[in-house]
Amino acid sequence: MNTPSHQAYVPFVSVDNMLKLVLHLGVERVLADLAAEIEADFKRWPLFDKTPRVASHSDVGVIELMPTSDGETYGFKYVNGHPSNMKQGLQTVTAFGLLAEVATGYPVLLSEMTILTALRTAATSAMAAKWLAPAGSTTMALIGNGAQSEFQALGFKAICGISEVRLYDIDPAATAKCAANLAGRGLKVVSCATPEDAILGAQIITTVTADKQYATILTDNMVGAGVHINAVGGDCPGKTELHKDILLRSSIFVEYPEQTRIEGEIQQLAPDHPVIELWQVINGQATGRSDAREITLFDSVGFAVEDFSALRYVRSKLDETGLFTQLDMIADPDDPRDLFGMILRAS
Ligand SMILES: NC(=O)c1ccc[n+]([C@@H]2O[C@H](COP(=O)([O-])OP(=O)(O)OC[C@H]3O[C@@H](n4cnc5c(N)ncnc54)[C@H](O)[C@@H]3O)[C@@H](O)[C@H]2O)c1
Repeated sequence: MNTPSHQAYVPFVSVDNMLKLVLHLGVERVLADLAAEIEADFKRWPLFDKTPRVASHSDVGVIELMPTSDGETYGFKYVNGHPSNMKQGLQTVTAFGLLAEVATGYPVLLSEMTILTALRTAATSAMAAKWLAPAGSTTMALIGNGAQSEFQALGFKAICGISEVRLYDIDPAATAKCAANLAGRGLKVVSCATPEDAILGAQIITTVTADKQYATILTDNMVGAGVHINAVGGDCPGKTELHKDILLRSSIFVEYPEQTRIEGEIQQLAPDHPVIELWQVINGQATGRSDAREITLFDSVGFAVEDFSALRYVRSKLDETGLFTQLDMIADPDDPRDLFGMILRAS
C-alpha cells in the first residue's frame, strides 16, 4: 500500500465548491474583489511572463492554453470557445486552471474555471470601464444575453454603479432568461426588441455575442459620441462584433497588444494602428478617457494575467471556507529517485 505524502495532494475546487464559494461570499462581492485583484496585477504588469495564448483552431471552435507567471507563482487556464455548442445543449465556453509554485514546479491549486471565467471576464470589463467610461454612467446596453451576460450586468452594477441594463439578443428566449435571472437584484432591466432600442440612452454598450464569423453587432451609425464600448465577444481570428468604421472613430484600449491584434476587433485594422494598453492607464503612464465626446473601446479578448489573478483569489479563500477537496495528483515517493518503487509497493 502506498500512502501519498502531503506533497502529493493538490487542493481542487470543483464546480460544486465554486458555486458554494460564490454563494457564500455573494456574486457582487466576488466580482468587486476580482476586479481589485486584477487591477492590482495590471499595476505590476511588467513583472509577468506574457505570451499570446496558444490556440488550436477547428472549423467549429478553438481550444486554448493561457499561461503566465509572476516569478513566484505560475498559472495556466485551459479554455474552449465553440459557438455551435449551444445548439447541442453544451456551453460555448468551458475552462479549468492550475497554479503552481515556481520554486518547485509543484501544483498548488486545480480549479474549475467555467464559472470563474465568466466572473473574471465581467470583473475585467467593469474594471476597464471604471477607468474609461463617461463619469456618472448609469445605463448599459447588453447585447448578447447568453452565459456571460448576467455576470457582465452585475459586474457593472457592483464596480461602476450601473443602475439600468437594456437587453437584446437575436434569441428572445435568451433575453427572457437573462431578465429573469437579474430580477430582484437592484437593477432596472429593460428587454428590447432591437439593438437600436437597447442602446437608447446607454452610456456603456457591451457586446457579448457568440458567432464564428465577422459579425456586425454594431454598425457605425448606431454609435454616438461619448459612449464606452465593452466588446467582449470578438476574441478569435475571424470572429468580431463591431463594424470597422467604429474602430476608426474610437480610442482603443487593449489587454496585451500582441494577442489582441490576432484575436480582437483590431484584427480588422492595420497591424500598426495605435492602441493603448490598459495597464498603462491604471499605472498613470497613459491617458484613459480624455474628453466627454470621445468614444472609448475596450477590445477585450481575455488575457492570462486575469485568470492568474482569479485563481490566486480562489486560493486565498481556501483556508477560510474549506471549500475544496484534496486530489492525490502528484506522485511523490519518499526517495525521489524511487518512482518505480511506488509501483512495486502499490502491488
Ligand atoms: N473577452 C473575454 O475575455 C471573453 C471571455 C469569455 C467569453 N468570451 C466570448 O463572449 C461571447 C459570449 O459567450 P457566452 O458564453 O455568453 O456565449 P453564449 O453562446 O452562451 O451566448 C451568446 C449569445 O449571443 C447571442 N447572439 C448571437 N448572435 C447575435 C447577434 N447577432 N445579435 C445579438 N445576439 C446574438 C446568442 O443568441 C446567445 O444568446 C463568446 O463569443 C465568447 O467567446 C469572451
